[in-house]
Amino acid sequence: MQVGIDQIGFYTPNKYVDMVDLAEARNVDPNKFLIGIGQKKMSVADQTQDAVSMGINATLRYWNKIDQDKVGLMIFGTESSVDQSKSASLFVKSALHLKPEVRTFEVKEACFGLTAGLMMARDFVRVHPDQSAIVIGSDIARYGVNTPGEVTQGAGSISLLIKSDPSILSLNDGHSAYSEDINDFWRPNNHTTALVEGKYSTQVYLDFFSKTFGAYKELKGWKTQDFSAIICHLPYTKLGLKANRLAVEGQDEETSERLLTNFEASKQMSMQVGNIYTASLYMSLLSLLENTDLAPNSLLGLFSYGSGAMAEFYSGNIVDGYEEQLDPEADRLMLSERQKLSVSEYEKIFNKAMEVPEDGQELISDEKPGRWYFAGTKNEVRQYKQK
Ligand code: COA
Repeated sequence: MQVGIDQIGFYTPNKYVDMVDLAEARNVDPNKFLIGIGQKKMSVADQTQDAVSMGINATLRYWNKIDQDKVGLMIFGTESSVDQSKSASLFVKSALHLKPEVRTFEVKEACFGLTAGLMMARDFVRVHPDQSAIVIGSDIARYGVNTPGEVTQGAGSISLLIKSDPSILSLNDGHSAYSEDINDFWRPNNHTTALVEGKYSTQVYLDFFSKTFGAYKELKGWKTQDFSAIICHLPYTKLGLKANRLAVEGQDEETSERLLTNFEASKQMSMQVGNIYTASLYMSLLSLLENTDLAPNSLLGLFSYGSGAMAEFYSGNIVDGYEEQLDPEADRLMLSERQKLSVSEYEKIFNKAMEVPEDGQELISDEKPGRWYFAGTKNEVRQYKQK
């Protein structure tokens, strides 16, 4: 039985900062951000968008297309959690009116969270082939105003439906995992922004890529040339490019060109949205699917990395007719309709979003009708509303 990704829902907040404006404000050559880091824009979440509301909005993108009663599992991966105890997924369950029999919880391992959920969902569907699973990754990447990591911030969510006989990507058996207890990026409980050893984290990412990609090829008896594309977790797009350059070292021209061309397609959304931590690899997948034509059965390699650090390489095959499940026009509109912020507007909104609103204060969202948002707390309970 084939199990894999049947639906992909994407959401990013309705505001952005242009990296040329940010470079000018920070007195940096814009090409450092555009070429050296590989980012053009970054989405900014105001106080009314958090991991939960973004996760609801991403799932709503496909919610009415699926058999809702069959959802037996919903996992929420995030490192922008809204509560130390209650799972973000319970707020989503409530908004979507999911049946009470659903098993639902939150997982955390930096940017690896959605992949951890996906692997559990795959195994769940293998045991319960009549049921499906929703896996959500939703995050706001916050390093802080005027920090080296600022250019690699972003906000957004990807929601996946995992089921048997999937319509988009069929997941292959086997994976290669690798972990080490290190401190390359972390966020202590009393911090609203991440602490990061930026250069060290990029070295570890590339080291773990080489280790897991090598081990995966050995496990499966496959060669680099068997892959149509290698997509990566993208904290910023230059890092995924470096991983792909490692992958094509010593390969024939056709393989190198194919992998590098498909990597370009996979980075398009990330360049406009920025880092969305747990969901970033899956935004690369969506971007690849929407920006190139892939033949049925094309083999995709997926590299997931979560600081701290945990990495995994696995693969899937493209399902014939996958295009019919996508809505590239709506995704493009979501990006093009965002409101452009000046750097000083972004700074105000960014800093305000890290404040906890006074209990009882009602927050008003300027999102489109139909979108969900965080409306503040009542008696310390978070309130989510639909516009
Ligand atoms: N034109 C083109 N490229 C330029 C440039 C210019 N004018 N100026 C600099 N660059 C290039 C540099 O050569 C470098 O390229 P390289 O990585 O290929 O060597 C790149 O831009 C970055 O420059 P650097 O001086 O290393 O930037 P930095 O000290 O500001 O740090 C990060 C960059 C990525 C380390 C920093 O943004 C960060 O900490 N980000 C968060 C890290 C992260 O996301 N970690 C999690 C990993 S999962």
